[in-house]
Amino acid sequence: MILDTHLVAPTDSPVNLEWIRRDFPILDQRVCGYPLVYLDNAATTQKPRAVLDAVRHYYEHDNSNVHRGIHELSNRATAGYEAARGRAAQFLNARGADEIVFTRGTTESINLVAQAWGTHFLRTGDQILLTEMEHHSNLVPWQLLAQRVGAQLLFLPVTGDEGLLDCTHLDRLLTPRVKLFAMTHISNTLGTVNPVAELCERARKLGVVTLVDAAQSAGHRPVDVQAIGCDFLAFSGHKIAGPTGIGVLYGRRERLAEMPPYQGGGEMILNVDFEQSIYKEPPHRFEAGTPNMAGAIGLHHAMDYLDALGRDAIFRHDQQLAAHAYRQLAGRPGVRLFGPPAGRAGVVSFLLDHIHAHDVVTFADHRGIALRGGHHCNQPLMKKLGVESTARASFFCYNTIAEVDRLVEVIIEIQKYFGYEH
Ligand SMILES: Cc1ncc(COP(=O)(O)O)c(C=O)c1O
Repeated sequence: MILDTHLVAPTDSPVNLEWIRRDFPILDQRVCGYPLVYLDNAATTQKPRAVLDAVRHYYEHDNSNVHRGIHELSNRATAGYEAARGRAAQFLNARGADEIVFTRGTTESINLVAQAWGTHFLRTGDQILLTEMEHHSNLVPWQLLAQRVGAQLLFLPVTGDEGLLDCTHLDRLLTPRVKLFAMTHISNTLGTVNPVAELCERARKLGVVTLVDAAQSAGHRPVDVQAIGCDFLAFSGHKIAGPTGIGVLYGRRERLAEMPPYQGGGEMILNVDFEQSIYKEPPHRFEAGTPNMAGAIGLHHAMDYLDALGRDAIFRHDQQLAAHAYRQLAGRPGVRLFGPPAGRAGVVSFLLDHIHAHDVVTFADHRGIALRGGHHCNQPLMKKLGVESTARASFFCYNTIAEVDRLVEVIIEIQKYFGYEH
C-alpha cells in the first residue's frame, strides 16, 4: 500500500482510513512516479471492492433480462433490480419503492421531470425559479422546457466569491407565478450547502413544485426526502461510489402519478394496440427499454457500503478535509478561494494569481494529484464571479489530511515554478 505512511485522518475523523483505503484498489498506484492523490471526487468517485465484486458476480451468475422472463436467471435479475429500488427508497427515506425511478444519472433524472412533468403542466407565462449556482444539468433542461412552452426562467442570486444564496431576494422571486423551483443541495464548484428544506417549505406554502439536485450530496451526507419535503430529487450512482450509467429520480408518489411517460418502448406498457397503448403505473411507466440491471445492483452495494461507514461520518470527514485545505490556502498570497469560509462540503475551488487553472491542474497531475480545472459545468456562475475557470479539489471518505497537505505543498511549488512565489 503506497500511501501507508500518509494515513493521517483529521484529528477526530469519524472514519477509519486504513480500512477504507484498502477497499478501493484503484487508489494504490503511482501516477508520474508519485503516489496517486485522487481529489476529483465531485466529478466521479472511486468504487469499493464490494461494488466491483457485486457487478462481476451479477454477470458471472445471474445476468438475464428483467421482468419479462419466466426462468430462474431472469427471476434472479428481476429480484436484484427491484431490491436495489427498495434500497434506494430506504437510502433517501422515501415512502416506498414506487417513488424511485432508475435513470442513467442526475442529468437524465432532471430531463425526465422537465419533459414529462414540465411539458404537461407548464404554460406560456409560467415561471421556473433556479439559482445562479446550478450545474448545466439543472439549467439546460429548464431552458429547453421554457423555450418549448414559453415559460420564463428566474434566478436566485449568489452573493459573490463566498458563494451563498442571497435569500433576501426570495420574496420578490418566489411568487405563485412560479410553477417549479429547482435547486442544488451542494454546489459542485463552491461547496456551499444550501438550506433545501427551508427553500422547499417556502415553495410548498405557495403550491410551487420543487426539485433538488442531490448529485453532490447523496453520497456525502444523509439525504431524507421527507425531511427536505421536495417533490423530486436526483442523484447519480457514479458519484456515490457506485457504477456509471445508473442514477435515481425520487418523485413524490402523487407527482409521478400525474405524469405522462418520458420515453416509450418495452417494459413501460401494460397493453399495446396498433393505435395506442396503456401504460404501467409509476415507477415502471418511466423506465422504457432494458434497464441497467448490473448498475442497479452495483448501486445497491454502494449504498450499503456508504451507510455502513455512516453518511454523517463521511460528511464530517469531508468537511474537516475541506476546512483544513481552506485554512492552509486562505492565508497564502496569490490564492483566491471560492465558496463559504465555514460550513462547506468537501469541495474547494481556487485560482492562483496569473496562473491558468489548466496549468495548475496539469502541473498537479505531474505530481500524481488528480484535480479538475475548468468551468465545472457552471458557466453562468463563472461569468457572475468574473472568471473563466477554477481549479477544484474535492474530497471523499478515503482522502487524508496528508493528501491535503501534499496538495498545498504542490500549490506552493506551482507558484514558485511560474515565478509568482510570495
Ligand atoms: C451538482 C451537479 N448536478 C448534476 C451533475 C450531473 O451529473 P451526471 O453527469 O452524473 O448526470 C453534476 C455532475 O458533476 C453535479 O455536480
